[in-house]
Amino acid sequence: MSVSVENKKSSAPDPNGDELVLFVNGKKIIERNAEPEMTLLTFLRRKLGLTGTKLGCAEGGCGACTVMVSKFHPHQNRVLHHAVNACLAPICSLHHCAVTTVEGIGSVARKVHPVQERIAKAHGSQCGFCTPGIVMSMYALLRNKSIPTMHDIEEAFQGNLCRCTGYRPILEGYKTFTKAGGCCGGKGRENGCCMTNGHKEEHVNGTSIPSVQPLYDPSEFMPLDPTQEIIFPPELMSLGKQTERVLRFVGERVLWIQPNTLDELLDLKATYPAAKLVVGNTEVGIEMKFKNLLYPVILAPAHIPELNSVEYTEDGIVFGASCTLTLLGEVLSAEVEKCPRHETEVFKAVLEQLRWFAGKQIRNVAAVGGNIMTASPISDLNPVFMAAACKLTLMSKGGKRVLQMDDKFFTGYRKTVLKPEEILLSIEIPFTRKGQYFSAFKQSPRREDDISIVTCGMNVVFQEGSNTVKDLQLSYGGMAPVTILAKDTSKKLIGRQWTEELLQEACSLLADEMTLAPSAPGGMVTYRCTLTISLFFKFFLTVQQKLAQDLKEKGICVEDVRPDYISATEIFQSETPSSVQLYQAVPPGQSSDDVVGRPIMHLSALKQATGEAMYCDDIPCYENELHLALVTSTKAHAYIKSIDVTDAMAMPGVVSFISAEDVAGSNMTGPAVCDETVLADKMVTCVGHIVGAIVADTQAHAQRASKAVKISYEELKPVVTIQEAIENESFYEPVRTLQRGDVAQGFRESDHILQGEMHIGGQEHFYLETNCTLAVPKGEDGEMELFVSTQSASKTQSLVAKALGVPASRIVCRVKRMGGGFGGKESRSTILSTVVAVAAQKVKRPVRCMLDRDEDMLVSGGRHPFFGRYKVGYMKNGRVKALEVTYYSNAGNSMDLSLSIMERALFHMENSYNIPNIRGTGYMCKTNLPSNTAFRGFGGPQGMMVAESWMTDVALSCRLPAEEVRKLNMYKQGDVTPFNQVLEQFTIDRCWEECVALSNFSQRKAAVDQYNKQHRWTKRGLAIIPTKFGISFTAVFLNQAGALVHVYTDGSVLLTHGGTEMGQGLHTKMVQVASRTLGIPSSKIHITETSTNTVPNTSPTAASASSDLNGMAVYNACQTLLQRLEPYKTKNPKGSWEDWVKAAYFDRVNLSANGFYKTPDLGYDFETNSGRPFNYFSYGVACSEVEIDCLTGSHKNLRTFIVMDVGKSLNPALDIGQVEGAFMQGVGLFTLEELRYSPQGYLYTRGPGMYKIPAFGDIPTELSVSLLRDAPNEKAIFSSKAVGEPPLFLAASVFYAIKDAITAARSESGLTGPFRLDSPATPERIRNACEDSFTKLCPPAEPGSFTPWAVQA
Ligand SMILES: Cc1cc2nc3c(=O)[nH]c(=O)nc-3n(C[C@H](O)[C@H](O)[C@H](O)COP(=O)(O)OP(=O)(O)OC[C@H]3O[C@@H](n4cnc5c(N)ncnc54)[C@H](O)[C@@H]3O)c2cc1C
Ligand code: FES
Ligand code: FES
Repeated sequence: MSVSVENKKSSAPDPNGDELVLFVNGKKIIERNAEPEMTLLTFLRRKLGLTGTKLGCAEGGCGACTVMVSKFHPHQNRVLHHAVNACLAPICSLHHCAVTTVEGIGSVARKVHPVQERIAKAHGSQCGFCTPGIVMSMYALLRNKSIPTMHDIEEAFQGNLCRCTGYRPILEGYKTFTKAGGCCGGKGRENGCCMTNGHKEEHVNGTSIPSVQPLYDPSEFMPLDPTQEIIFPPELMSLGKQTERVLRFVGERVLWIQPNTLDELLDLKATYPAAKLVVGNTEVGIEMKFKNLLYPVILAPAHIPELNSVEYTEDGIVFGASCTLTLLGEVLSAEVEKCPRHETEVFKAVLEQLRWFAGKQIRNVAAVGGNIMTASPISDLNPVFMAAACKLTLMSKGGKRVLQMDDKFFTGYRKTVLKPEEILLSIEIPFTRKGQYFSAFKQSPRREDDISIVTCGMNVVFQEGSNTVKDLQLSYGGMAPVTILAKDTSKKLIGRQWTEELLQEACSLLADEMTLAPSAPGGMVTYRCTLTISLFFKFFLTVQQKLAQDLKEKGICVEDVRPDYISATEIFQSETPSSVQLYQAVPPGQSSDDVVGRPIMHLSALKQATGEAMYCDDIPCYENELHLALVTSTKAHAYIKSIDVTDAMAMPGVVSFISAEDVAGSNMTGPAVCDETVLADKMVTCVGHIVGAIVADTQAHAQRASKAVKISYEELKPVVTIQEAIENESFYEPVRTLQRGDVAQGFRESDHILQGEMHIGGQEHFYLETNCTLAVPKGEDGEMELFVSTQSASKTQSLVAKALGVPASRIVCRVKRMGGGFGGKESRSTILSTVVAVAAQKVKRPVRCMLDRDEDMLVSGGRHPFFGRYKVGYMKNGRVKALEVTYYSNAGNSMDLSLSIMERALFHMENSYNIPNIRGTGYMCKTNLPSNTAFRGFGGPQGMMVAESWMTDVALSCRLPAEEVRKLNMYKQGDVTPFNQVLEQFTIDRCWEECVALSNFSQRKAAVDQYNKQHRWTKRGLAIIPTKFGISFTAVFLNQAGALVHVYTDGSVLLTHGGTEMGQGLHTKMVQVASRTLGIPSSKIHITETSTNTVPNTSPTAASASSDLNGMAVYNACQTLLQRLEPYKTKNPKGSWEDWVKAAYFDRVNLSANGFYKTPDLGYDFETNSGRPFNYFSYGVACSEVEIDCLTGSHKNLRTFIVMDVGKSLNPALDIGQVEGAFMQGVGLFTLEELRYSPQGYLYTRGPGMYKIPAFGDIPTELSVSLLRDAPNEKAIFSSKAVGEPPLFLAASVFYAIKDAITAARSESGLTGPFRLDSPATPERIRNACEDSFTKLCPPAEPGSFTPWAVQA
């Protein structure tokens, strides 16, 4: 290792490269062989062993890798602290910087930092994989501003994702750093502050609900003391003031040169014209990592004064090309504050674009010049710069030239007029003049940290004192391979008055000019075309409003904006969310040592917040360890003709190539049916099918070599979509049917019959920690130890044993914890672990592989897309008499768990409604996509989503309020489901009443109606949706669990059970159960890991049933121990736990016990429709209100109220965490997350850049969660209920609120009655459904007349 920690000054330059000097957590590091291709993240994790900083995506999109970088800026003469994505920061860019990681600010052993303490204690860390990144974003903010506003906090988190918590607890916890402190600001409930309320009952509209009580006590929080933070190293301060010489870092393939003067840079550019300039590396880093591009010479101009300067001129402000976007924003904001309004129109437009430009970490490093020079067609700044005619200064050794940014600047896709030896020196952003108006708009799938679908800058200048157009520039991104100007449109509008006629003409002209081929890359063609017009309409109204006001001041009267149109001109403003959590406190008198029912913190939360919690890839490397990279198919369906590994094997560090021939045991694998290969043999059946793997000394070497493996194919026609599978009758057996009553008779008796269809898109798990396996061969008897991030330790063990050809007893699988699972690591994790094990067996050395995010998304499958077709018979009053529904799921290229998933969809086809005559049929489509798999809800949400679609259709056809029709059809206590299970302890009616009361439903409904009457272009919608979710594995044998409890002679207890910890707090709950049963404090009980050599033959941690099953097994084991200890207790009743344990030990009593549990009375038979599939049901109801922008299709989640029956909660904090996390995952499923496939089965969405999970800004502005009180469940441990999956479906309330809002928008165009809305309700779908005069101008191309860019899988 070439790293040393020293205090002496850096030595003289070496001809082989310079020394890189940086500080990490206050320690000086001198790196003698800095590798330009290495990121800071790899350096921290692999070279320094600082594994607290996590890898979630490697593309700056998740924030898991956030660290703070501090730098002395000689030009500004100050030290700047910035949150930065370590996954994109090249280590070479950090010369003379100080890096602070999560380990540097606190630790459990030493002292946790308030930032770490608050996220943990506020229950803001579940799986914990995102936590260090969030901690560091907050820490960096506090280093710059010790008392931030909520707005500052929200802005700081724009670049951080969390898949578990639903964000609310993180914001709540950190709200305590703001001036308003932990108070809900009076927004929570009428009785004010959430921190001071007592434990009493309230009555809302006659219904009794529990009052607010805290889930944690903020008075326990340590105060923040900014004086105690690590100081910026004085040595770096003085080094920063010295003039540096040109630095060179020489890597294996890349030379990194850091010049310090402009002349040096221009000389270097003349010497190396093909050299790449790198400032923030937020583009180049992505190109090198994901597009496999190699830039042998990199020039880093970040320190050159001229490129970092900000100069004020008569005409505007000149920014050096290396100025960061953060600096750009700060300077422009200051200018907007102090200049007259009319001068800063362009500045405000730039600021508006920056508001939604990436996340803070990216803006802190990305340069304005980098954005221009990338020349991306969806750059957010270029349309503004072009419409504003900004001046660009280019420079080379030969001199300077100044150009105006216009449509000639970009010469092609990602190309500009710059000559190879030229650089961009600066950009001048102009002031605006009186009579000039400027707007910028950006439309993206998600508001925060997302790339544009369409983005634009619009500039109009009027003849003095009039509304006559003198000049007009409309610039669009996302409509061509380059940023373009709508020149024809603009030309024809010059000289015209800014009136309704101009609008009409502009729209027609834009429709003609801004066209796209139906198969244009990026898809969404109709939507994009409509957007160009809709955004112009927004501009038109905005200008009309400002113009009317400005001319009125001059006494000139022109038409103003209609009051009901004004909301179309309003810029989106986020509001600080407020929330309430309600739960039943433990009964008075419960012993304080008894933690069951108390909101205790996740037991690993503090370690997760300090980075000390170990995940699979954090295990230190073995000395002789190797790294593995997968080689996957690029074709969806093909014969493999040949595999050529010659080039790959010749690459540095490569040790071996693994193929099907290396599988010593069976190459056939699968969790339920063995219908897939460990490694493809002769044929591939999806893009991403694992064909082989390269094993090399480093991950970088393995990955590079894997890309050099050449596979030739003979292609076959793939089946990609459900529709194609239906056409080709490509189905897996069996086709399942579930039926009750006489459906034909039901239809005959109905007043009306309607038919409909709905498609529900798939979903990527997006656990923050990707799949990871470390396989360690033991060298004897075929033994192997596997460290795996899996929900199924036993399945991993058995499938690995099968592939290796050894008995399962030789394989030990260990799981410490996972960074999220959500079903994605139930069966699909085995495809990686098996390959890694095969490799380790072959090379006889430890082998590790943690998949990159793009690989993980490609190979591991996700939630099944579903297509539902239904026919409903109903009466005039909305009562449903008969239902016939057919489900098709896209199962992919193997069965995996698809049958159980389809069965669960059928078990939930009626959701919570009593339908007397019902028939559901389920087909599993066999397609050439990676096998789809378990995902929280396991088919239930898809089944219920279709139910709510026909319910909505019935209400719309009957012209009745949807909530009335839902209530009318709802089950009652004692009713029987279509699978003949009696509904006992039925609580939906109570949940419904409480939800109606909590949400003030009727008042909200009246307010929504009123709002919709007053607003033409924004509409609100409201929906209340119930859910009923069956608890048990439907495969009966899985409903068993084991536990092993050791009591040691000092009284400490080691607990092991069959479940795995993936953030849901299972281990915490199990400790609570053991603590109550044994009657000892939870601090005496410890869980280390889940392993197959302690508790064998475990079921996957899935189906929400793990607390029920393992809880009972733990209880049983503890009971056995208690019985054994009983004599010693009786003998010494005043003795302590330790006394009894010791006495028993000396009496030779076995202090280790195992426990076992199987759920009684289960077993359902589809043939006879008899037997019980479920132990019991979980219930809940949610009411949501949304607002849609009819012109762009964006929506805001305004309010959500959830009432959930979790029985007698074992831990209300964990249960509320599950409710909120599941709900937000559902919000992603139903409104945001869209997997996009090419017609050839190629997945485009392979990372957070293109696949958008909910971010902080997507949580409802008002969110209430109430756990139903007095609802004990006699079927599970300590009267609790399962909670992991059931609440996910409640997010359907957001979807149907959106549909309600769209219904209001459509009625403005005279459209009534049912309409199809597929899930997710993306901006594209919402906009297209809000049909109006603008959508009419952009009719979609005839289906079948073209090959679309993307298909609906
Ligand atoms: C997670 C993420 C989110 C993003 N979000 C957005 C977004 O919302 N909107 C958007 O528009 N973009 C977005 N981007 C793209 C990117 O961040 C911006 O384009 C950024 O401004 C690039 O700046 P940089 O300094 O990082 O560029 P680098 O990667 O360092 O360089 C980019 C290109 O510019 C060239 N270059 C840089 N400086 C000069 C110069 N002075 N002269 C000549 N060539 C030069 C480089 O050679 C290179 O080709 C995002 C990127 C990421 C990773
Ligand atoms: S790992 Fe760096 S942002 Fe995701
Ligand atoms: S706790 Fe945030 S991703 Fe798991």
